Amino acid sequence: MNHGNNERLLINEVATRDGFQMEANFIPTEDKIALIDRLSGLGYAKIEVTSFTSPKAIPALRDGEEVMGRIVRRPGVVYTALVPNLRGAERALDVNIDEFNIVMSTSETHNLSNLRMTREQSFAQLAEVIALARGADVPVNVSLSCVFGCPMEGEVAQDTVLGWIDRFADLRVQGITLCDTTGMAFPTQVQALCRAAMERHPELQFTAHFHNTRAMGLVNSVAAVEAGIRRFDMSLGGIGGCPYAPGATGNVATEDVVHMLQCMGYDTGMDLEGLIAATAQLQQLVQHDLPSQLPRAGHRLTRHQPPADFPEIVARAAAKGDAKEYRA
Ligand code: COA
Ligand code: ZN
Repeated sequence: MNHGNNERLLINEVATRDGFQMEANFIPTEDKIALIDRLSGLGYAKIEVTSFTSPKAIPALRDGEEVMGRIVRRPGVVYTALVPNLRGAERALDVNIDEFNIVMSTSETHNLSNLRMTREQSFAQLAEVIALARGADVPVNVSLSCVFGCPMEGEVAQDTVLGWIDRFADLRVQGITLCDTTGMAFPTQVQALCRAAMERHPELQFTAHFHNTRAMGLVNSVAAVEAGIRRFDMSLGGIGGCPYAPGATGNVATEDVVHMLQCMGYDTGMDLEGLIAATAQLQQLVQHDLPSQLPRAGHRLTRHQPPADFPEIVARAAAKGDAKEYRA
């Protein structure tokens, strides 16, 4: 079934960054590499491999260099990593990253909590990172946290968000990711911000990044795609969350969102069966249930056997006088 939504969507897998940063147990480096190598064959446009953050802040990703250096880079897939400061950018350059995903929050309180800088201090530092990236010919994407609300400050005004987008646009970054860090977004808000941002900056590549904290992740994804967003962050199994954002829970699950968008006729380029199979490997690594639904339910046309006494049910119905023959 195809409803004519033929424009290709670009999917960015964030389980090994947004996901693993939130896991209580350290995932062994070998296992991270094996999972990423498997995911590389499933149709992603991009994989956020790790982050180059302080190992004190994010101990789960302290092996960023080794992971980045040892994965098999599949041509056509962009291998990116989260970079919070100049030190992180230097580390990322050393391992020949394809893109810097630099990060700051549009909420002052969250930026201070997460990055230990004011927004102005972050911006000044990131401006240096952008200059470094330009010299090294590395594209820059900016992940803006809390653009749909902050768990500590409450509402973040749309004008505040657009103001930060303007400032990064002035520095000629390639793209902006609109991050719903703790699942505060709702569909009409998503449409309003996505449309306003895209109208104001048609030159920028916008990505939507939803967490499913309040069960609105899928409907927000629909709102974003209908507003014209073509790039999405998603996390296999639905793991994820920012350890410095109170109440954070997992991202929208890659398999759940891809399934939904494929049902709607969008070309995601993704191997859905391969994704579902990969969740088993992920679950072994994290050793807890995954929040995603699809691995349990299967795709919507998954067919189950009728009840064991079904022939008797049919025979009884026929004996009651329905002349039509039953056919499965
Ligand atoms: N990579 C590795 N080490 C780093 C680093 C980086 N990117 N940035 C700083 N450090 C080290 C410094 O070398 C210093 O080490 P030392 O104590 O051995 O001397 C130490 O960390 C403190 O440096 P400082 O610049 O004062 O950092 P900070 O303590 O103010 O922390 C950040 C600032 C941004 C590095 C830290 O808050 C961070 O990494 N946050 C990331 C949070 C995150 O990823 N959240 C989830 C994603 S949204
Ligand atoms: Zn996130």
